[in-house]
Amino acid sequence: MSKSLKDEIKQEVDKRRTFAIISHPDAGKTTLTEKLLLFGGAIRLAGTVKARKASRHATSDWMEIEKQRGISVTSSVMQFDYNGHRVNILDTPGHQDFSEDTYRTLTAADSAVMLIDVAKGVEAQTIKLFQVCRKRGIPIFTFINKLDREGQSPFDLMEELERVLGIRAVPMNWPIGMGRELCGVYDRMKNQVELFKGNDDHSSISVRKVDDYNDSIIREMAGDYLHNQLVQDLELLDVAGDQFDFEKVRAGELTPLFFGSAVNNFGVQTFLENFLQLAPSPTPRNTTDGPLDPTNEKFSGYVFKIQANMNPAHRDRIAFLRICSGRFERGMSVRHTRVGKEIKLAQPQQFLAQDRDIVESAYPGDIIGLFDPGIFRIGDSLSQGSEIIFDELPTFSPELFAKVTVKNALKHKQYQKGIDQLTEEGTIQVFHSTSGFDETILGVVGQLQFEVFEYRMRAEYGVEIQLHRMQFQFARWIVDDKIDPSKFRINSSLVKDKKDNYVALFENEYAMRTAIDKNPTSKFLEMAP
Ligand code: G4P
Repeated sequence: MSKSLKDEIKQEVDKRRTFAIISHPDAGKTTLTEKLLLFGGAIRLAGTVKARKASRHATSDWMEIEKQRGISVTSSVMQFDYNGHRVNILDTPGHQDFSEDTYRTLTAADSAVMLIDVAKGVEAQTIKLFQVCRKRGIPIFTFINKLDREGQSPFDLMEELERVLGIRAVPMNWPIGMGRELCGVYDRMKNQVELFKGNDDHSSISVRKVDDYNDSIIREMAGDYLHNQLVQDLELLDVAGDQFDFEKVRAGELTPLFFGSAVNNFGVQTFLENFLQLAPSPTPRNTTDGPLDPTNEKFSGYVFKIQANMNPAHRDRIAFLRICSGRFERGMSVRHTRVGKEIKLAQPQQFLAQDRDIVESAYPGDIIGLFDPGIFRIGDSLSQGSEIIFDELPTFSPELFAKVTVKNALKHKQYQKGIDQLTEEGTIQVFHSTSGFDETILGVVGQLQFEVFEYRMRAEYGVEIQLHRMQFQFARWIVDDKIDPSKFRINSSLVKDKKDNYVALFENEYAMRTAIDKNPTSKFLEMAP
C-alpha cells in the first residue's frame, strides 16, 4: 500500500534538523561547519568551506562588493544526511558581514549551536545572537571549542554562561585535562571515553567503553593527577549539577554542554550524534489563525531573506523560503498572500556552499531559494490552497545610524524608489525626523548594510548618495498616547519609522536611562510594536 502524503511528510519532518551556529568571529564556526559537512559526506574536500572564506573573490562572481572585500554577503544553507537525519545548517554571517539578515536567519532555525572559545568565553556577538534565540524560545546547544589550547576551567565557563546569558548548562561530556595536557573527554551519557592524541600536525582519536568515571582504564591513560581531577569534578556535578531535563532544553532554559576541538575533529562526531538525537525536528509556526503543524498536507512557507545580484550577469535575486508545512514540488502553484495571486515556483534552488542545485522536492525545515523577479518581500507567506499568513518577522533594534542625502537633486525620484524598495527588502531600516526638517535617517545593525545600500543605490537605481554617520547607538520604539517630543532633545532624537511609530534614538545608555525616567508613562520597546 502506498504511503499517504501525511505519513510521507511526517516521516520527512521527523528526519529533519534545521539549525544555525551562533558564535563570535574566530571561535571556529567555519572549522566546525566544515567538519560537520565532512561527516555528512556533503563535501568531497576538506578545506572547501575554509577556502571559500579565505578567497571568496576567486570562486564567487556575486556582488561587486564581495569581490572588493573578499567576503560573502550571503547567509547560505548547507544540507547533508547523517544517520538517517537530514541536516540543514543555516550560515549566520559574522565579522563585517554581520547584518539584520544574520538575526532574521535565526527565525528560520529550529535550534541553535552556540560555539564558544574555551579561552575567550562568552563574547559580544554571541550575546546578541543568543538573545535573539532566547526570545524565540529555541533550544540552544553549546560547544566549547579549542580544548587543545589552555583556557578557562569548565566550571568557570558554566558560571559565565549563567552570569552573562542567564542560562544553566548541563555538561554532556567533560574534559580530561586541557591544552597540552588534553587526554580526552568523558562522555557522561554513554559512559565512554574519547581519547585524544595530538600534536601540531597529527592527532588521533579513539573511543573506549568504561564502567564509569572511576574505571582504571582512565587512570592508566590519563595518570593519577588528571584522573583524580576528573573524579572530583564529576562527583561534584553528579551532586550539585543540573539533571538533564529534555523539557527545559526544548524551552531554551537549559543548554546541553559539549567540549571538543573542531580543528582536530575531536568531540565533533559525538557532539553531532547527541545533537541530532536531542534537537527538535521542525516545529509548528505561528500564523494569524494559530499554530500551523509542519505535517499539515498543504504546502506553506515564508520568506526570511532576500539576496540581490548573486550573479551580476543575470541580475537575479534569490528569496530564501523556509518551508513550514506540506511538500514542495518544483513547478507547483502557490498563493502569494500579500499580492493575492497564484504564482508558479518554477526555479527553486538549494544551496550547498556556493553551488546552486535545482530542487525537485523539499519538506518542512528545508530552505529553498526562489528566483525572485522582484515580487517577494521579507516576511511574505506562500501557501497552497487557503491563504496562510505567518507572524510578521521581528524588526531588530538598529545600532548604527546615518543621515542620507542624494548628491544629484534631479535623481530624487529614483532615490525615493530605491529607498522604498530596499526598505521593503529589509536591507536597511528607514526613519524620518520629526523636527520639521525632512531628514531621512537609516538604521542598521551592521556596517555592511550601509555599504550594500550605497552600492545598490548606485548599481541598481543610478543614484549616488552620501551617508553622514550619526552618534546614536540605541533605538527604542515609544508607546505612549501623549508623547512629549521636548523630552527627547538632549543626546537623543525623536523620529518616526515607516509605519509612523515614534522611535527615540539615543547617543548612549545614560541618555536612554534619563529619558525612561522622565517618561514614566511611556513604554520603550527594543523592537517595533
Ligand atoms: P570563525 O569561522 O568562527 O571565524 O573561525 P574559524 O573556523 O575560521 O577559526 C578561527 C581560527 O581558530 C582558525 O585559525 C582555526 O584554525 C582555529 N581553530 C578552530 N578550531 C580550533 C581548535 O579546536 N583548536 C585550535 N587551537 N584552533 C582552532 P587561524 O589561525 O585563523 O586560521 P588557520 O591558518 O589555522 O586556518
